[in-house]
Parts: sequence; C-alpha cells; structure tokens
Amino acid sequence: MRKKIVAGNWKMNKNLDEAKALVSEVINMVRDEITGEVDVVICPPTVYLTTLRQYIPTEGRLALGAQNCHEKESGAYTGEVSAGMLQSVGVQYVVLGHSERRQYFNETNAQLAEKVNRVLEASMIPIFCCGESLDQRENGDYVGFVKSQLTESLFHLSPEQFSNVVIAYEPIWAIGTGLTASAGQAQDMHFELRQHIASTYGDEIAQNTSILYGGSANEKNAADLFAQPDVDGGLIGGASLKSREFTNIVKARQ
Ligand code: G3H
Repeated sequence: MRKKIVAGNWKMNKNLDEAKALVSEVINMVRDEITGEVDVVICPPTVYLTTLRQYIPTEGRLALGAQNCHEKESGAYTGEVSAGMLQSVGVQYVVLGHSERRQYFNETNAQLAEKVNRVLEASMIPIFCCGESLDQRENGDYVGFVKSQLTESLFHLSPEQFSNVVIAYEPIWAIGTGLTASAGQAQDMHFELRQHIASTYGDEIAQNTSILYGGSANEKNAADLFAQPDVDGGLIGGASLKSREFTNIVKARQ
C-alpha cells in the first residue's frame, strides 16, 4: 500500500507570527478532523523550520518539510543550506526540483540528481517535482519530457533508495494560475510515470511509489483529483496558506 500524502508548500510567504498561527491552526484541525491514513507535510520557508518543529508532534501523521537544499554536503556556499542541516533540525521531507527553482534558479536535472542523493543520505524523503510547460504540452512530446526528468534525476538510484522517493507531478501551466489539470489529465500522466518507474524498478516498487499532483489544487477540485487511481495526494501551494481550505483538502484525501 502506498502512502497518501498531502504536502503544503508555503513558498515565500508569511512572517514568523503568521507562520506560527497557520501551523497551529492546521495542527489543531488535522488532530480534530482527520481520522484516516494520510500524511500531512508542512513545508514552510527555511527560516521558520526550527521554530515550527517545536509545534509539530514528532509522532503522528504530521511532518515537517523543506522547500529546497544545496547539492553539496558543506563548504563555502554563502547563503545556502545543506541536507544535513535540515535533517539536524528535524526536517523529514525536502521538496526538490520545483518548477520555480528550475525556472528562476536554473536548476538542472543533473544538479537535482545530486540534491536527491544528499537528501537520501541524510535519511530524509525527497519530494521530487516534475512537469511540463504549456508550450511543451501543446507542441511537443510532453510525456517524454516529464519521463526524462525522472530518468535524469532519479534513475541512478538503487531500488532501495528509490523506494524512499515521492514524486510530485506539477504541470507548470497549472501552478498558481487557477488552471488545474483535469482529473483525467492528472491520471493520464501519473499512470505514464508509474509505468516509466516500473520499466526501471519493476512493478512492485512502481505500485508502492506515491505520486502527488500539484497545480491549483483546492478544496473544490481535490476530491475529483484524489479519486483517480494513480493520484496519491497533493502538493498544495496557494491553498496551503489557508488552514480551513488546506484541512479540507487533507479530508478529501483521507
Ligand atoms: O508546490 C506547489 C505547487 O507549485 C502548486 O502551487 O497550488 O499555488 O498552484 P499552487
């Protein structure tokens, strides 16, 4: 049985007081309202991780995630944060290869392969993001493009290592635009990605890999998306900044 996961990527939002208030609200609502098997990952800005760690119970369905890390273990990389540092403050998941990082910080598949290595070496779980642009979807082999993102950043891993990876499919044209992929479009890509994983790692590992959908997911469309057989959860951006809506999305997944 693969894990159901709903992760909230806060991106570069909230000041410290707002972050504390939001995480407290989410913790309380999840505790009071969620009974099913679903893991909830909170990914605040890096600067709040240590503080928010103290709010999140260490046992249970809630986990703490980071939005990025550097690909080197340590050294003269001013302003950067390593996987080991994140692990040392209690981070359990790390979002890697978000399209915003690929676009604005020129992250490459090869660089992301190294980041994945560092996160796994530090015993954390990478949430590896992939997805095509609108132009690619309309004019190109967009399925092949997304598969190549997995091939180039993940398929060097051993089967044991790969078993600890979570995938997030996020079509770039759906991120922050209000244009959600239809449930059918999400399912089609998730199915293709699972087949692609199976072609390298075999069916058992593919069936056990959690593949999340991200891109304008909200409390209204979550149930439809999560009803798809290959959609195991969500990576939620804007809607994760509102405790009520985020919890409703978790409810739709449980
Ligand atoms: O990491 C989250 C995704 O970029 C989705 O963001 O829900 O605001 O479209 P969004």
